[in-house]
Amino acid sequence: MTHPENRALGFQKKIDPNFGTKTCTVGQAAEQWGYMDAVPPICVSSTFKQIEPNVTKFMYGREGNPSRNLLEQCLASLDNAKYGICFASGLGALTSVVTLLKTGDHILAVDDLYGGTNRFFRNIAPRYGLESTFLNAEDPEKFVSAMKPNTKLIWLESPTNPTLRVWDVEMISKLSKKKQKDVIIVLDNTFLTSYFQRPLELGADIAMYSATKYLNGHADVIMGALTLNDDELFNRLKYNQNSTGIIPSPIDCFLVNRSIKTLHLRMDEHMRNGLAVAKYLEAHQDIEKVLHPGLPSHPHHKLALRQWSGYSSMVSFYHKYGLNESKKFLQSLNIFSLAESLGCHKSLAEIPILMTHASVPANERSELGIMENLIRLSVGLESIPDLLEDLGQALKAMKI
Ligand SMILES: Cc1ncc(COP(=O)(O)O)c(C=O)c1O
Repeated sequence: MTHPENRALGFQKKIDPNFGTKTCTVGQAAEQWGYMDAVPPICVSSTFKQIEPNVTKFMYGREGNPSRNLLEQCLASLDNAKYGICFASGLGALTSVVTLLKTGDHILAVDDLYGGTNRFFRNIAPRYGLESTFLNAEDPEKFVSAMKPNTKLIWLESPTNPTLRVWDVEMISKLSKKKQKDVIIVLDNTFLTSYFQRPLELGADIAMYSATKYLNGHADVIMGALTLNDDELFNRLKYNQNSTGIIPSPIDCFLVNRSIKTLHLRMDEHMRNGLAVAKYLEAHQDIEKVLHPGLPSHPHHKLALRQWSGYSSMVSFYHKYGLNESKKFLQSLNIFSLAESLGCHKSLAEIPILMTHASVPANERSELGIMENLIRLSVGLESIPDLLEDLGQALKAMKI
């Protein structure tokens, strides 16, 4: 069965027809619980009684927990992956990937990244003797040619944050593996989720998520996740996770497990709302340029249609004025909240140069197009007419 909206928009990748069944069933069996709970309980116990020394399914909550375990199984199934691992945050998941490296290794990352990822590679990784190169990945061959003999990690984010560029993940994966078979390729798939993009099927070794965003979708949890197929990488990541302690709480696991039951429904609606906002802004007289991969004016529109099966609700735009107008616009919004983060039911608006990307060096920010008139929206699940009206009145108010 083909998803009608997806087909009408021209996507070449199909929506997984079993996606909703997986979110509702994988890892959820009632038989695993003492009371045959139809809804998985929250297992808060930090330790577990053993049948005889070292004979037990769960031993200690840092190593493994039933509430976490079932969520990891479920998330893995959404990427058709063998393994899932959940962490205390998206950056915790990134930290765990970096523990796979050793002093002297080199990281090749795309230049347009979530500010916190950029900050980690730039300011934390060098303390442990890890060197990073940040590069535009528009030309996959040029990007891969920056690999060095000691490049052990390639970090991709597509679409990027906040300018929503799209990279040819398939080509980058193919070329980089040809050059160095053992390089680990990670794709940060936070913006699209497994519903709209399958990192492992595009050639990445690890799909990475800030589950804080669309996966949880209700702005009440901070969590990270990885999915992957490789046994050895999985064992090393699990070992390192237990050794560093970057684990999520069972309560947060319960909340994310509950939230992903509606992930496909929410993403369909997010896509609709995001596209409506992008089209509205593109036609507005005070807007210079809208960045949304679903607009034919976007330079990577065709690539998005080839690699994905839907759009997120992230929309960035440049208005025609300056910093004061940016601030006035943000402070005049009523339905959109002036706030960091993204991918939740509530519509959020921010100015990357002062907020999410303030830690990126100024010269790089301007090279990336992170200017004083760039606004990033995370379009929520409110009704479209109300969202458009709110944007319209704030655009008017910013000029007064
Ligand atoms: C694309 C992306 N990756 C990673 C992160 C970090 O995730 P967390 O805030 O859960 O640590 C974020 C947070 O905004 C993000 O937007």
